[in-house]
Amino acid sequence: MIKHSIRLHPLGKELMVNDQTPLIDVLHEFGIEFPCGGKGTCGKCKVRLLEGEIKTTEDHQQKIEKLGLSDDWRLACFSKCTTDITLEIDQFNHLILADESEFDFCPQEGFGVAVDLGTTTVVAQLIDLSSAKVLAVETMLNPQVRFGADLISRIQSCIDGNQTEMTRIIRAVIGKMIDLMMKKHPVELQKVVLVGNSVMQLIFSNGNVSPLSMYPFKTDNLGLKTLIPEELGWNFQVKEKVKFYPSIGSFVGSDILAGILATGLHQKEKFTALIDLGTNGEIVIGNKNQIVCASTAAGPAFEGANISMGMRAVTGAISSLNLVEDKIEAIVIGNTAPKGICGSALIDAIAILRKLDLIGMFGEINSGETAIQITGKVSLSQKDINEFQLAKAAIATGLSILARKLSIELDEIETIYIAGGFGSYINIENLAATGMIELPQEKIHKIGNTALIGAKMFLFSDTEMYEEILTKTRHINLEGDPNFQNIYVDKMLFL
Ligand code: FES
Repeated sequence: MIKHSIRLHPLGKELMVNDQTPLIDVLHEFGIEFPCGGKGTCGKCKVRLLEGEIKTTEDHQQKIEKLGLSDDWRLACFSKCTTDITLEIDQFNHLILADESEFDFCPQEGFGVAVDLGTTTVVAQLIDLSSAKVLAVETMLNPQVRFGADLISRIQSCIDGNQTEMTRIIRAVIGKMIDLMMKKHPVELQKVVLVGNSVMQLIFSNGNVSPLSMYPFKTDNLGLKTLIPEELGWNFQVKEKVKFYPSIGSFVGSDILAGILATGLHQKEKFTALIDLGTNGEIVIGNKNQIVCASTAAGPAFEGANISMGMRAVTGAISSLNLVEDKIEAIVIGNTAPKGICGSALIDAIAILRKLDLIGMFGEINSGETAIQITGKVSLSQKDINEFQLAKAAIATGLSILARKLSIELDEIETIYIAGGFGSYINIENLAATGMIELPQEKIHKIGNTALIGAKMFLFSDTEMYEEILTKTRHINLEGDPNFQNIYVDKMLFL
């Protein structure tokens, strides 16, 4: 059997397939979506052919032209692999790299690496500092996931004696990612900067995480960390010291500091908010004079935890739901039978069930049954709905308390940005309908991976830049607010 290689940019992944393999059969394993189910109408599965050949049929050619795409684009859902090919995946550009946002920078000499060290995923970019152009990208799963999926279990695992190993493996993986990028582009590195939540920062720099496991959850060890490649076990040179940027508070890390920089909210006259619906659910509101931020316990529900049929955004997960003539239609990642529901579709489900009056204002299932079927074998139980209420109340309460700390009304916020890979999938109309963000949907915008954009901006900025943001920023303990309980109970309702 003849085999061909498919290389996927900008992830740098490579796979071998049999001759004549339809791309739709293999690309969904990489999380690529086929929203119109391969009808060739949405154009969302478009790939740019960088090397090799994909012959087009007349039908395929017409679809490409109708979508206004140039010659080098193909629709993956209409393509078969008949030679070795290299593809640029358009969805990766939007969802993972969020690289289209331009920013002002002062050109510098040399090359740098920006790393977003997430609890689940690590993304690194090699940047030409003279043009801010991204030369290479690597993404990998954080190998610490075998020590626990969330931050609390990672902290516990450190306390149980695994920290040395967790530090070693994350340093090794990031070193390997940089190595891979430099193999493609042999350059001398001027600088490497990292951002991540406070637990990731402490583990990477081999700091003591145990203060974050008990009241008052505070440590004064969250400042800028500088390290040299040798102590990280890296076998390449970096001219300047490797920098892991400082956290803002115990559970608000430098990924959020980078997010503030990326949105530019610290320089704006009007108030802007940033919400990262990742594992932790961090919220920031501020302007050029003052900034407040907090972390909430909202994340796990959106990552599938505590939801009976919840799952991450991988093949088989329902990624979105639409109401078409009073019938619920599901879009499933990989275009397969649905196995479960991911965070973005959970928001859709709640908004649709409310619209159909199948759940009431207290979250109760109106029929009195214990679950509601969504599609196929996937259903939402009463407990799932209550879990969602807890998560949405956590965000709504966070926004409300932070606005009070600034002595402003919520509607004085001009723009709310939703960050993170998960944020990119969210249907804003449905999000607003659930009451999680009590502002008109026109004010809510998706912004992509602000941690990575900000990390890249740190490559061009001096220390004064982050010090200015830190000086303006107050970390708020939401639970410590005397009104927390009352507001939280209030925000559980669907109004
Ligand atoms: S054009 Fe919609 S999935 Fe290919």
